[in-house]
Amino acid sequence: MQSILHKDGHVATLTVNRPDKLNALNAETIQSLHNNLQDVRNDKRIRALIVTGSGSKAFVAGADIAELASLSVNEGQELARKGQELLFNYVENMPKPVIAAVNGFALGGGLELAMSCHIRIASDNAKMGLPEVSLGLIPGYGGTQRLAQLIGKGKALELITTAGMLTAEEALHWGLVNRVVPQAELANEANTIAANIAKQSPTAIQHALESVQAGFEVGQTDALKEEIAHFGQCFGNEDFKEGTTAFLEKRKPDFKG
Ligand code: COA
Repeated sequence: MQSILHKDGHVATLTVNRPDKLNALNAETIQSLHNNLQDVRNDKRIRALIVTGSGSKAFVAGADIAELASLSVNEGQELARKGQELLFNYVENMPKPVIAAVNGFALGGGLELAMSCHIRIASDNAKMGLPEVSLGLIPGYGGTQRLAQLIGKGKALELITTAGMLTAEEALHWGLVNRVVPQAELANEANTIAANIAKQSPTAIQHALESVQAGFEVGQTDALKEEIAHFGQCFGNEDFKEGTTAFLEKRKPDFKG
């Protein structure tokens, strides 16, 4: 199973479950997460959802690079469009709060998934970044928009263009996560927040989520389409072939531009 859903009272936990690939998101995993999110969305008993990664090393280490490597421009665009619809926008538009418990690497699509969630907390070993330009790509699952919304345009552009990786403490300092706890306490911390949410009015919370999101919706919808188009164009560049091949051959890329 590519993702595991566990329900306990009013709180559900959804775990991305591909630990041998650091929970990298392939099409099957995205579909599995979508199916479980649909279940949580429709289950009136569930009032808060925690999303986390399997194992102690990674939340999600990104989109599955092996799956990306052979795609054409059109297929790349379709990958981004479908992923945004099934997972990233779907999480952001959930009618109940979604808490990302970032338990290790959250890179590329992994950070994009955490940023689609409404609340982020991290374990002290977590590392976060959008390293797509090191592969000849750009973030295609909403990262260009949500990172700038969360930490501001200047810091977002620094992180994206340097393919930088933040420690949990740096992410806290930059406002990317709300708090950092030792890894052994992460699940408890997430459950405490979820339990506090579960005591409040679910209908009022849904209105609050929709109201906050409404402030970002106008520009975001068009910008996400723009992101999909630019993401797709990267698949036609030699740099993308070099970047993904280098990753899969476990060597440093040599970009010609
Ligand atoms: N897609 C596909 N496979 C991935 C992956 C990804 N995004 N991230 C990790 N994996 C796989 C590795 O290929 C490796 O598989 P293998 O054992 O079959 O060779 C396995 O997961 C373990 O990863 P490994 O690289 O050996 O672990 P590490 O501790 O040396 O490095 C990372 C950890 C996260 C720094 C490194 O895996 C990495 O850079 N991953 C890609 C991050 C990225 O660019 N994400 C954005 C994608 S658009």
